[in-house]
Amino acid sequence: MPRSNKEAPTLPIDDVSPFMEAYRTLKANIEFASRRKPIRSVAIASATPGEGKSTTALYLASAYARAGQTVVLIDGDIRKPTLHQVIDRRRSPGLSDYLLDPGMMPSYVLKDTFIGAAFISAGRSVPNPSDLLASERMTELIALLKQAYDMVIVDTPPILAAIDAKILAAKCDGVLLVLESGKAREKAVLKAKEELLLANANLLGAVLNKTSRKSNPYYYEGYGK
Ligand SMILES: Nc1ncnc2c1ncn2[C@@H]1O[C@H](COP(=O)(O)OP(=O)(O)O)[C@@H](O)[C@H]1O
Ligand SMILES: [Mg+2]
Repeated sequence: MPRSNKEAPTLPIDDVSPFMEAYRTLKANIEFASRRKPIRSVAIASATPGEGKSTTALYLASAYARAGQTVVLIDGDIRKPTLHQVIDRRRSPGLSDYLLDPGMMPSYVLKDTFIGAAFISAGRSVPNPSDLLASERMTELIALLKQAYDMVIVDTPPILAAIDAKILAAKCDGVLLVLESGKAREKAVLKAKEELLLANANLLGAVLNKTSRKSNPYYYEGYGK
């Protein structure tokens, strides 16, 4: 339920916009990839900042919720989190707090939002986000959430900026690589893809974001085997 409309994302969240349609298509492509191996947790990554990871994570989560599936959205970008601002939540308590405090229950950090998904904000700023994300406790949290939700979606910091995205991608069943149309440089994209594969992540495909085609603002290219 919306707490206040003024904080709602500037991009349209409604069932009829081509924008949401594009996310339904993305969801369908993930389901297609699930035929090879069940995909119940997905990391959303990109080579560089500003390509649309957080936006993709948010709207993809909404597409699952709108399809009647239960979904939890985790802000795994502990370095520069934005999701809590977009949906008008507090940054802390959240993921880093949970990973630091063995006494904290994950249910404590779950809150329903107007996007229809449960949300775990990034948590307080810490000097060592990669160590926290690499911990066994993070692996266990994803496993726990997979038991409780149909889908777990994890936002991440840029691949070329920190090791965090690779750590999270490897802990999830799959990873999507978001590319900003017209801006993403081939060298950076190839490097990001290589890094994900080296980290043993399951690269599901690329999402071309911010295309000018009105009828299809998102374009999905799968790395089908
Ligand atoms: N498809 C899109 N169309 C228009 N604006 C977009 C789109 N995707 C992202 N944006 C905007 O671009 C900016 C960066 O997006 P964001 O999702 O925060 O990127 P990242 O998480 O990769 O840094 C935000 O202001 C967001 O609202
Ligand atoms: Mg972001």
